[in-house]
Amino acid sequence: MVEMSATAILADAPPLLRLPPEAGLLRFLTCGSVDDGKSTLIGRLLYETRALFEDQLTALEHDSRKFGTAGEHIDFALLMDGLEAEREQGITIDVAYRFFATDRRRFIVADTPGHQQYTRNMATGASTADLAVLLIDARKGVVTQTRRHSFIVSLLGIRHVILAVNKMDLIDFDRERFDAIRAEYERFAADLGFASLTAIPLSARFGDNVTRASANTPWYEGPTLLEYLETVTVETDPAAAPFRMPVQWVNRPHLDFRGYAGTVAAGRVRPGDALTVLPSGKTTTLARIVTADGDIAQASAGDAVTLVLAEEIDVSRGDVLAAASAPAPVADQFAAHLVWMSETPLFPGRSYLFKSGTRTVAGSVTAIKHRINVDTHEHLAAKDLHLNDVGVVNLSLASPLAFEPYATNRTLGSFIVIDRSSNETAGAGTIDFALRRGTNLTWQHLDVDRAARSALKEQSPAILWFTGLSGAGKSTIANLVERKLHAMGRHTYVLDGDNVRHGLNRDLGFTEADRVENIRRVAEVAKLFADAGLIVIASFISPYRADRAMARSGLEDGIFLEVFVDTPIEECQRRDPKGLYAKVAAGQISNFTGIDAPYEPPENPEIHLPTVGHTPESLADEVVANLHRRGIVR
Ligand code: ADX
Repeated sequence: MVEMSATAILADAPPLLRLPPEAGLLRFLTCGSVDDGKSTLIGRLLYETRALFEDQLTALEHDSRKFGTAGEHIDFALLMDGLEAEREQGITIDVAYRFFATDRRRFIVADTPGHQQYTRNMATGASTADLAVLLIDARKGVVTQTRRHSFIVSLLGIRHVILAVNKMDLIDFDRERFDAIRAEYERFAADLGFASLTAIPLSARFGDNVTRASANTPWYEGPTLLEYLETVTVETDPAAAPFRMPVQWVNRPHLDFRGYAGTVAAGRVRPGDALTVLPSGKTTTLARIVTADGDIAQASAGDAVTLVLAEEIDVSRGDVLAAASAPAPVADQFAAHLVWMSETPLFPGRSYLFKSGTRTVAGSVTAIKHRINVDTHEHLAAKDLHLNDVGVVNLSLASPLAFEPYATNRTLGSFIVIDRSSNETAGAGTIDFALRRGTNLTWQHLDVDRAARSALKEQSPAILWFTGLSGAGKSTIANLVERKLHAMGRHTYVLDGDNVRHGLNRDLGFTEADRVENIRRVAEVAKLFADAGLIVIASFISPYRADRAMARSGLEDGIFLEVFVDTPIEECQRRDPKGLYAKVAAGQISNFTGIDAPYEPPENPEIHLPTVGHTPESLADEVVANLHRRGIVR
């Protein structure tokens, strides 16, 4: 569910939101907090365009008299509070879409709650919007949140902005103040790439310049907010682009029918058109376009359809059907902008799931090129990304993806990042361009493979991954296990935290980011050694589940064995073999695992070794016996 709620992916949006822009429909987003008067503004728009039901109106008038803070006037914030409560009961999405219409246009406004995880909600609302209304409290002017919202609006490809300078009544409709706010914002937004920027002085509470021109601003000659919304042209026409449709599911009700269902993301398609299946690159011809109301002769951007192909070829969920004359590029390495939305920071090297269109693949951020200060647009060096940070990153995916730069196609150019252990949507991003590196590298086939190498050694390769606190006994037991295996004629190698940090990983310390990278590198080395046919004994604190999961990923079952050396912290402190706990206590070491840095114990280790009351010798025997039972040593 979390995944659905915060997606920048159009495929998950309600059908109406996926309609292509057209003269008769404008989708917009409101940004700002309740304090800026956002609820009041939306409430008033709905009220004055008669988008409310009779019972909502009666309740509103009644509540305004009873609880209102607007004196004689209707308190529109109360209306939105009511709708907000309705929404909370549903708790399905974090964005509410409100509909209203005038004689000239229909409107869908994405209303994102102003609570602290606003970037997530904004990204959801913004992914379908053509225009953003940025609310400013005239008393406060342009604040950090205004700049942050503007930045995300620009990142998500919205090119039209209305600066709604609200609460003009509280500054006596002061023209100079309004002009100063407008000028300051224009300076800030100069490099955000907006095609239009219109500032309107208004009072949502009293209705000045919302739907009626205000007598209080004789100096203002522009349109009211509603007039502007009714007439602004937002030019994009995704139907003009080449055809693309991510396959949502394969529709196969019986043996005689096979169709591919999805929502057209761009372009148009007609039966007879040549299509390419991506990423495989196979081509075919479109036979039929099936909908709930029967076959149709053409489908275009926004239509939800089932496509039937002339030839049986391999197409599955997550593939993209594209015009054969202009197929989308395919790549597995990208430069992208990323907005981080999780309390748990993003670390390069950690494995996440990336969902773009209807495809989900594993991957990681290989580098954070910089973090962007959204106030100043300054580029800052960063080793990780925290909640609400925006960064420019390089991504590497485990399998290729059909994509388009976000500027060309919002659906094929956006993705969400899913945390593999919590399933939470941890980030949302936009693809800038593909990196060539991946496409220029191929995997070199070698005739002597792991099976051949281990056959020569007459053993089954394995990775014994020892994890536990510092001083738990990992290295001691690992050393004994290696001695025993060696004595049995087995081919082994020990990778030990302290030792590897003298060489390969001498540039790494003990921040979370460095530990992620430490484990990423040693996991790669362990995989190479296992590929060489060895029994690898890796001994690292490896405090994070996600990184141990990454070390395991990509290996066939039975090769990776997690060995939890389970010693309570009090016992580690008592043993203190390297005198480190004493140093921690004396304040000489920080970020120490179990003290002021976390340790996440394994949930299902293959081998669990509670050490208290056992000798290292007996624990090592237990490990070897376990390897016997698994047939790794005979
Ligand atoms: S890990 O967390 O990145 O997996 P690793 O196993 O490589 O750690 O290294 C841990 C060893 O480094 C410890 O056994 C200890 O000797 C030493 N060490 C030095 N500083 C720290 C620290 N802050 N936290 C944990 N171990 C530390």
